Amino acid sequence: MRLVGIAGSLRSGSHNRELLRLTAEQAPVGVELVEWDGLVDVPPYDPDREVPEPTAVSELRSALRDADGVLFATPEYNASIPGALKNAIDWLSRPSLMAGPLWGKPVAVVSASTGSFGAIWAQTELNKVLRAVGARVVETGLAVAKADARLVAPDVELLDDLRRVLELVAVEAGAGGEAAAAGPALRQAQPAASRAAA
Ligand SMILES: Cc1cc2nc3c(=O)[nH]c(=O)nc-3n(C[C@H](O)[C@H](O)[C@H](O)COP(=O)(O)O)c2cc1C
Repeated sequence: MRLVGIAGSLRSGSHNRELLRLTAEQAPVGVELVEWDGLVDVPPYDPDREVPEPTAVSELRSALRDADGVLFATPEYNASIPGALKNAIDWLSRPSLMAGPLWGKPVAVVSASTGSFGAIWAQTELNKVLRAVGARVVETGLAVAKADARLVAPDVELLDDLRRVLELVAVEAGAGGEAAAAGPALRQAQPAASRAAA
């Protein structure tokens, strides 16, 4: 099972990209999480540029089509999701929502911020947008606050939570092996607690 990870930050030292990297390390047997990092090349959505589609958009479309599920890791910019991430989703929603690569796709969102609330508003917002474009959203509630300190030496509880998030997406995507066998249990095994109040 192949899951694609997308960080909502373009920053090279992004905490959210680090969150994806840590999550990939927790992948259960038979599941891999591979980052798609072309967000910086996606131009602003422009209806006049839908045909022919910009290369970066086609690459994203194809990466998501080939994926069994998607994990987004987003920061919060001014109480919402970064424009670059919303912009990419807008491209994917055109020209047809139902023919788009996110339609029916199992997805989950985690978030990280240097602030005290772990970008929980951005996470909620992204869940809403993903539902609007027809994705099957698995709620995670995993919001990593004070990410600059927390991700330097991630504790076992955080790593366990990241593994559970990945398992939840894998179960939703119909994983074989261990994840599928443990499906009902995993569905209830939400991350221990949101990091929002950490
Ligand atoms: C323009 C801008 C707006 C921000 N607004 C918020 C915010 O509303 N809430 C929050 O928790 N953090 C906010 N932050 C802080 C970012 O969430 C924090 O820098 C985070 O680490 C960025 O993610 P990254 O490390 O993955 O790049 C903001 C940062 C920027 C640059």
